[in-house]
Amino acid sequence: MMVSLRSLLLLGGVVGSAWGKAGLYGLNIAGFEFGCDINGTCPLNQIVPPLLSLKGGDGAGQMAHFVKDDGMNVFRLPVSWQYLTNNVIGPLYEKNFAQYDKLMQSCLDVGAYCVLDVHNFARWNGGIIGQGGPTNKEFADLWTQLATKYADSEFVIFELMNEPNDLIFDDWVVSSQAAVNAIRAAEAVPHIILLPGNNFSSAGTFISSGWGAAMANITNPDKSTTNLIFDLHKYLDIDNSGDHEECVMDNIALTFEPVAAWLRTNKRQAIVSETGAAASDSCFIDFCAQNSYLNNASDVYIGYIAWGAGSLGTKYLLDLTPSRTGTKWTDMPMAVSCVIDVWETAAAVVTPVWGLSLATANVSTMTSSSIPAILTGTATQVYNGGSVGTQTSLGAGTTKTLSPDGSTGGGSQNSASGVKVGGGLMTGSLLLALVML
Ligand SMILES: *[C@@H]1O[C@H](CO)[C@@H](O)[C@H](O)[C@H]1NC(C)=O
Ligand SMILES: *[C@@H]1O[C@H](CO)[C@@H](O)[C@H](O)[C@H]1NC(C)=O
Ligand SMILES: *[C@@H]1O[C@H](CO)[C@@H](O)[C@H](O)[C@H]1NC(C)=O
Ligand SMILES: *[C@@H]1O[C@H](CO)[C@@H](O)[C@H](O)[C@H]1NC(C)=O
Ligand SMILES: *[C@@H]1O[C@H](CO)[C@@H](O)[C@H](O)[C@H]1NC(C)=O
Repeated sequence: MMVSLRSLLLLGGVVGSAWGKAGLYGLNIAGFEFGCDINGTCPLNQIVPPLLSLKGGDGAGQMAHFVKDDGMNVFRLPVSWQYLTNNVIGPLYEKNFAQYDKLMQSCLDVGAYCVLDVHNFARWNGGIIGQGGPTNKEFADLWTQLATKYADSEFVIFELMNEPNDLIFDDWVVSSQAAVNAIRAAEAVPHIILLPGNNFSSAGTFISSGWGAAMANITNPDKSTTNLIFDLHKYLDIDNSGDHEECVMDNIALTFEPVAAWLRTNKRQAIVSETGAAASDSCFIDFCAQNSYLNNASDVYIGYIAWGAGSLGTKYLLDLTPSRTGTKWTDMPMAVSCVIDVWETAAAVVTPVWGLSLATANVSTMTSSSIPAILTGTATQVYNGGSVGTQTSLGAGTTKTLSPDGSTGGGSQNSASGVKVGGGLMTGSLLLALVML
């Protein structure tokens, strides 16, 4: 029986402790944003859609491989605003949206979480959103349209914007709140929304610049902050650009430890949606150490997404694109050592008592693309995967692995848990064991 690793998200340990495995881990599948400059220009002729059918990298094949062979469960799919609306601020351009949606669907089809990242640096052709460029209303309208498209796909994560920079941040908070309001009003209520910050969403200035505290003020319409997750980017080279071969930054002591402390104090969570390193000796040490730390602090870091694959080529310094020979895929050494192995060898997933709460799901109506991911809640239960599953109670703190048996019985999910379960993903024999604290 083939067992998908991600199906073995076993929780253990003590609530609130920091010791475990990131709930979400995966790669960026780049290409639909190629050519975007930090001034928000995104020439459409530079885009290389990461789809074989569109003459780009085999993003769909890569994601299927990453899920099946490596247990990954989240992919970030950058795209430019200009592409989505064909260079005019306004309605989605259905022809282009349909191409992007092919990539999105190939991500959803393999049962992963899929991050819709609008890769525009808070700008449109040089104009800052809400600060002389597109109005907040126009920005919110973009999100109304995108959220409407994916309102029924809870595994789509909405990243409001890639890497805002050089702007009046308090005004950016207002722009972001408008987008959050638009998404929730479009009935994309349970979806995770990623809140990007200043200095290119730098984790390194999350505290020092105050952008974390500022974005913490953003709320859902009901004033909660449920599923509003900070979006962090961090590289390990001298200027946090990812453009240099050597890793020189101690991202643990200087960045991720203090940010973790802040998140715990404020009972919030973050995801590292961009991080990466060149294949140099220093990076094999530092990038592995960083990602081990992120796994270990999985109570506040819900996951990490490395940069990158998709249409990136072998000449690119941070290329993590796997190669294929026949039906066999081979991962890049850096991906194996510092992205995959550190996750696979990490301990169980740990969750805090606050944080994500995915929509209430119903085991009876699970589809094969439903997967476990972030676990929160107060009950200790195990659900058996499958389109129809059973649920079994366990003693607190214990874990157990269930074999799929296609049993009937159903039973609705613990609505407090926020856990979605499913099975039959790859072979019809997906194992699924979720133990909630
Ligand atoms: C993981 O976290 C625990 C608890 O905070 C700590 O004692 C341990 O040293 C950490 N390990 C690593 C590798 O960071
Ligand atoms: C944005 O930057 C690109 C690359 O440097 C440049 O070619 C373009 O003219 C700039 N556009 C605007 C509107 O500033
Ligand atoms: C972060 O961004 C602000 C506003 O653009 C800027 O003043 C500050 O110098 C930046 N900090 C760093 C470390 O880049
Ligand atoms: C966030 O909200 C608090 C109180 O609700 C307020 O004091 C603070 O100024 C706000 N911070 C920002 C940066 O908007
Ligand atoms: C779960 O789905 C089944 C089948 O559609 C339905 O009969 C049942 O009422 C649902 N349970 C809940 C709690 O919604």
